[in-house]
Amino acid sequence: MSRMVPRAVLVYLVIISVLAVSPGTWCREHGHMRRGWRNAAAVHGNHHQRHRHSEHRVPRWTANSIEFQETKIQVLASSSSPSSVPATFNVLDFGAKGDGKTDDTKAFDAAWYAACKLTGPTVLVPSGYTFLVKPISFSGPNCGPNIVFQLEGKIIAPTGSQAWGSGILQWIEFTKLSKITIKGNGVIEGQGSVWWSNSMADTTTGLNKMPSTKPTALRIYGSTDVTVTGITIQNSPQTHLKFDACTNVQVSGVTVSSPGDSPNTDGIHLQNSKTVLIHDSSLACGDDCVSIQMGCSDVLIHNVNCGPGHGISIGGLGRDYTKACVSNITVRDSTMANTLTGVRIKTWQGGSGAVQNVMFSNIRVSEVATPIMIDQFYCDKGRCENDTAAVAVSGVTYENIRGTYTYQPVHFACSDSLPCVGVSLTTIQLQQAQPSSHSNDPFCWETYGELKTTTVPPIGCIQKGKPSESPSQLITC
Ligand SMILES: *[C@@H]1O[C@H](CO)[C@@H](O)[C@H](O)[C@H]1NC(C)=O
Ligand SMILES: *[C@@H]1O[C@H](CO)[C@@H](O)[C@H](O)[C@H]1NC(C)=O
Repeated sequence: MSRMVPRAVLVYLVIISVLAVSPGTWCREHGHMRRGWRNAAAVHGNHHQRHRHSEHRVPRWTANSIEFQETKIQVLASSSSPSSVPATFNVLDFGAKGDGKTDDTKAFDAAWYAACKLTGPTVLVPSGYTFLVKPISFSGPNCGPNIVFQLEGKIIAPTGSQAWGSGILQWIEFTKLSKITIKGNGVIEGQGSVWWSNSMADTTTGLNKMPSTKPTALRIYGSTDVTVTGITIQNSPQTHLKFDACTNVQVSGVTVSSPGDSPNTDGIHLQNSKTVLIHDSSLACGDDCVSIQMGCSDVLIHNVNCGPGHGISIGGLGRDYTKACVSNITVRDSTMANTLTGVRIKTWQGGSGAVQNVMFSNIRVSEVATPIMIDQFYCDKGRCENDTAAVAVSGVTYENIRGTYTYQPVHFACSDSLPCVGVSLTTIQLQQAQPSSHSNDPFCWETYGELKTTTVPPIGCIQKGKPSESPSQLITC
C-alpha cells in the first residue's frame, strides 16, 4: 500500500481482515501468539465470569495491527470455552432486589440451591446493593465441595420482631460443608441496636419487642476446611462470627465492628473446633474479641487488633458443672487497646476437664484494665455457688507482654483444691496508664510456676515449683 492511503482506512482494512480469519486458522498460523493469549487467559480467566468481556476489552486504536489482532483473538477465544470457568450464581439472577427493603431471602435460598450441587461454584452477592435477608441456613449435606460464597455487597438483618419468631440462635448459618470459603469486601450488618436495648420496643403494647434469645450473626457449624476472609461483620445482636464443631478453620482480613458497650457481642467465638488459624484481623466489640470455648485445640491467633472489647479469652469453661478440655492455644503478635482484659483464662467453679499448654506472646496492651488474668472463680451472674471442683489450668506461658493498664497489671485467682501449675512469665512490662491514680499490685492465689526474668511491676506472688499436695480431683481430658 502506498503512503497515500489515509491511516483510518488502513486500520479499517485490518479490522476486516481479522474478522474474516477464523480464530482456529489464525492460531495455527501464529502459534507463538496463541501461547501468548493462552497464558493471559490462564492468569485472568478463572474468576468473575460476568466481567470476562470487559477484562479483554479491545484497546484504543493504534497503527500496530499485530497488537490489535492479538487482542481480538483473546476475546473470541475466551467466549468460546466457558466450560473451564467455574459457574457463578449471582443472587440478582435469582430475583434478589438488593434495595435494602425487599425480602431477598428466597433469592439467596434459590442461588444456593442451584450452586450447591456443583463442585467449586461461586455464589455472588454483588457490590453496590443492600440485601435484606431473614434467618437463613446454607445447608451442606447434599452439596458438592469447594463452594465460594463471595460477599461484595451488604446483607442486613430484619429489625422487626416477627422475623425472629420466639427466638433463634443464629441469623446466617453455614452447616455441614466441606471446603467452604466465605470471602469478599462485603458487609454483614446485624442491626443489633434494636436488640441491645429494648428502647425501640413500645413497652405499653409490646410492639416490636425482640425475643430474649439473641442470634449470632454468622455461624459455621460442623464443617471442615473453612475459610473466612476479607469480610466485615458489624453490629451483631450477639456474637459476630461463630465456629462450632469445625476442623481446619482459617480466618484472615476480617473486620468485626460494634460498640464497646453492646452487650454479649463477642467478636469470634470458637467451640469444639480444632486446627484454627485467625490472623490479620481487626476486632472491635462489646465482649471478648475472641472467645475460645470447650473442645478447642490447636488454635493459633496472630496479628489481631482487639478493642474495644473484653480481650482474648479462653472460657468461661465448666459452667453448670460441665467438663471442658482446651489445649494447645497460642496468641501472639497482637494488640489490645481499651479492653477490659488482655489475655484471660476464665473458668466456673464446679466444672471439670483442663486447660493445657497455652502461650501468650508479644502482646501490646494500651489502657487495658487487667492485661493478664486467670480467674477460676468466674461468675457472670449475680451469685455463683462455691464448689471445690474446677477446670484444671496448667502450662500457661506469658512472654513479652508490654504496655499500659488502668486497674491491675496481673490477676491470678486459682482454685484452692486445684491450683494453677506451670504458669511462666518472661519479660512483662506493664505501666499504669495514669501514674497518679491508685494502683493495684499484682495478685496471685494458689498460682505455681516461675518468673524467668524480672518483671515490671515485680510479681512476687507466684509460688515456685509445684503444690506439695497432689490434686484432689482426677484430671481427665
Ligand atoms: C497438643 O500438642 C502436643 C505437643 O505438640 C501434642 O502432643 C498433642 O497431641 C496436642 N493435643 C491436641 C489435642 O491437639
Ligand atoms: C463462697 O466463698 C466465698 C469465700 O469464702 C464467700 O465469700 C462467699 O460468700 C461464698 N459464696 C456462697 C454462694 O456461698
